[in-house]
Amino acid sequence: MSRTWGFTQAVDLAEAHDQMTAMMPIPLPPVPTTQRAGPVQVRATIMKVRTAGAYREFTVHAPGVVPGAQPGQFVTLGVGGESSALLLRRAFALSGVDGDAVSVVVAAHGAGTRWVFERGPGDVLDLVGPLGRPFPAPSPGAAALLVAGGYGAAPFVGLAQRLTAAGHPVAAVLGASTAERLYAAQELAPLTQVLVVTTEDGSAGRTGRVTDVLPDLLPGASVVYACGPMPMLRAVAAQAAARGLRCHVSVEEAMACGIGVCMTCVLPVVGADGTSRFLRSCVDGPVFDAASVRFDDIGRLPDDVQGASAMLTTR
Ligand SMILES: Cc1cc2nc3c(=O)[nH]c(=O)nc-3n(C[C@H](O)[C@H](O)[C@H](O)COP(=O)(O)OP(=O)(O)OC[C@H]3O[C@@H](n4cnc5c(N)ncnc54)[C@H](O)[C@@H]3O)c2cc1C
Ligand code: FES
Repeated sequence: MSRTWGFTQAVDLAEAHDQMTAMMPIPLPPVPTTQRAGPVQVRATIMKVRTAGAYREFTVHAPGVVPGAQPGQFVTLGVGGESSALLLRRAFALSGVDGDAVSVVVAAHGAGTRWVFERGPGDVLDLVGPLGRPFPAPSPGAAALLVAGGYGAAPFVGLAQRLTAAGHPVAAVLGASTAERLYAAQELAPLTQVLVVTTEDGSAGRTGRVTDVLPDLLPGASVVYACGPMPMLRAVAAQAAARGLRCHVSVEEAMACGIGVCMTCVLPVVGADGTSRFLRSCVDGPVFDAASVRFDDIGRLPDDVQGASAMLTTR
């Protein structure tokens, strides 16, 4: 197996995961065999650009990325062009896969995402993926509630397709600050038994936040999947926990390498043994069991987290 991280050459993510886990004994579940295809780096030609409210959805020809790609995984894109000073790749959730094509939805945020935003059909993107761990499958027959904030809905069309195909009842709540920041409401409508939309300014659906409608939806759910800003994930996780429901959250921690090397993306997670460790959201996540994430301590270096003292430069 090649270890080179070069164009179109596969790197075995599962093998790398096993080696890292052996070096730092972190009690993680094994990578599902369906994910063992590993990521590739490709020059991906943009086939189609679709405007979706405030976002743009890019469908690119990315051979080698699709095998093994699952909802919840992400890709990284080089930004700014070959002579750019923007060195770090930017992460985007996979919003769709079809044949050799993959899609991502992009919100113009800073210099990197604005550069992607301005690309058009025929332009070539430097893409690495699929990366990270996907959303796990629920237990047979479990009713799933999907909760998304803004472009956090990106992985949920694919997830809802898989869940409905496997016979799971699916409900979804999509929230955003305004109507134009909602994503995938039309696509999710035929895949869900209940679809609730909320906007903070009342420009679409119910006025308020996704968490306002959860008390109505959680009683019918057996498992919750959430993707969106960290404060939303924390609030959804708290409501799910209060009802004893399993909740899977996809976190959006700032990333640099995206492949588990730099430790930029770590967050404190409690292991099955009760010990808290900093886990890398790019390879150990971005999907985590919400009950294991120490939301109160994200961005801090609490003393009881294994490895925290090693990360302090001054005390
Ligand atoms: C797993 C994952 C999935 C994501 N999915 C999407 C998606 O589907 N669509 C989308 O539009 N955006 C997504 N993001 C956020 C996107 O990666 C950031 O908005 C982007 O990196 C910001 O780059 P910028 O140059 O525009 O902004 P700048 O603020 O100039 O970014 C500078 C650096 O900060 C980091 N950074 C800044 N904001 C974020 C952020 N919110 N999350 C992570 N890193 C950040 C990046 O590493 C970047 O290198 C995702 C992030 C992660 C980690
Ligand atoms: S972004 Fe480098 S380890 Fe996660």
